[in-house]
Amino acid sequence: MIKAIIEPFRIKMVEPIKLTTREEREELIEAAHYNPFLLRAEDVIIDLLTDSGTSAMSSDAWAGLMRGDESYAGARSWYRFRDTVMDIFGFDHVIPTHQGRAAEHILFGLMAKPDSIIPNNTHFDTTRANIEFGGAKAVDLLCKEAEDLTTAHPFKGNMDTEALEKLVAEQGEHIPIIMVTVTNNSGGGQPVSMANIKEISRIAREAGIPFYIDACRFAENSQFIKRREPGYEDTAPIDIAREMFSYADGCTMSAKKDAFANIGGFLCTNDAELAHRERNILILTEGFPTYGGLAGRDLEAIAVGLREILDEHYLDYRLLSTRYVVNHLDKAGIPVVLPAGGHAVYLDARRFLPHIDPLQYPGTALSIELYIEAGIRCVEIGTLMFGLDPHTCEEKPFHQELVRLAIPRRVYTQSHMDYVIEAICLVWERRKEIRGMRIVEAPRFLRHFTAHLDRAL
Ligand code: F0G
Repeated sequence: MIKAIIEPFRIKMVEPIKLTTREEREELIEAAHYNPFLLRAEDVIIDLLTDSGTSAMSSDAWAGLMRGDESYAGARSWYRFRDTVMDIFGFDHVIPTHQGRAAEHILFGLMAKPDSIIPNNTHFDTTRANIEFGGAKAVDLLCKEAEDLTTAHPFKGNMDTEALEKLVAEQGEHIPIIMVTVTNNSGGGQPVSMANIKEISRIAREAGIPFYIDACRFAENSQFIKRREPGYEDTAPIDIAREMFSYADGCTMSAKKDAFANIGGFLCTNDAELAHRERNILILTEGFPTYGGLAGRDLEAIAVGLREILDEHYLDYRLLSTRYVVNHLDKAGIPVVLPAGGHAVYLDARRFLPHIDPLQYPGTALSIELYIEAGIRCVEIGTLMFGLDPHTCEEKPFHQELVRLAIPRRVYTQSHMDYVIEAICLVWERRKEIRGMRIVEAPRFLRHFTAHLDRAL
């Protein structure tokens, strides 16, 4: 029996990578105001900024682009998309949007009031911003096991359901919706167990509160359940996904993740009256309800991608290739979030750079060094991203300082990952020389995208 896990695909088309020197990268990152989001992508060697919209599509999905029916209303591609989403997700109403945050914007625009409280395991930044933008409060109720970034608990994305039950008992009338994010992106890409989803659903249903799943990485979560939760060993990922969604009343989805698409998303609900109001807003902001913000060809590619992503061999390869990087770093003594998540490797910048104050953004400092060292682009998930209260403008250290290296699906090979491991090890060796950062200018909402930074004085 061969043990090596191979990429279960062949490469048919390639994109060259421009190699740069360290001196060039020092100048390029300074010109980008020390914010990796402001770099030109062509100046990046390995782009691990996000796994969103960056996946490689299959020959089938590309063929789907040619099949795309671009009719304004009732296109063939719309029906293919809708039927696929209904088959996997099982909700009565499917509303196509141009990406996940458009679905969030429509949903929270209708459901959240200024005095609302919306719990989640951990809100992703766009979800939180869409809630806070309307004046409501986004609350994270992550399980206690997740506080320790190194314990081997299999489902560190779980919600603290005791805390949820307490919040519902005390403030239930202010909670218009309960959400859970699978996998928990901002909390380290950790999965949520079926048992936890069931329990959230029970609490929500008893209180008469709709329960929604932020489904971006639903297939990876399904495979974690298959591999880690007793009783699901022999269940196909599609059936695990169906069961997860059967406990919910709706979902938001970014097809840029677990649908291999470069753009797209959707909003689902079982509530006919709500769907009617959502479609009215959709027409105002995105487009007619049979295309939303998408071209027919996009709908087609998503329909293909949603089926492909549930392939068990692909999902095993995906989870194992992320674990490969995490295991190598862990063995080298580098502080990395354990166990390995699905879509990304998370470095713990607080332990990597303990000499840097959280208000001097150790995660950002580390991401800058990875760019200078090897042209790797990644993102901070810490005080720069979440430390500022946009209403009071008060800045506080976030409870974690992580650096996320998100792995685009089917894009990089194992030797690219070996290069990444080597680069991180080199930065680790010279970690004591690394200095903190300071903000030169930044907006109040989602400041990490556009902030200008410099090295701390
Ligand atoms: N929810 C989660 C859990 C996400 O990870 C994202 C996007 C969204 C919602 C919003 O979806 O980008 O299609 O509007 N995450 C990307 C990332 C941007 O890099 O993790 P979108």
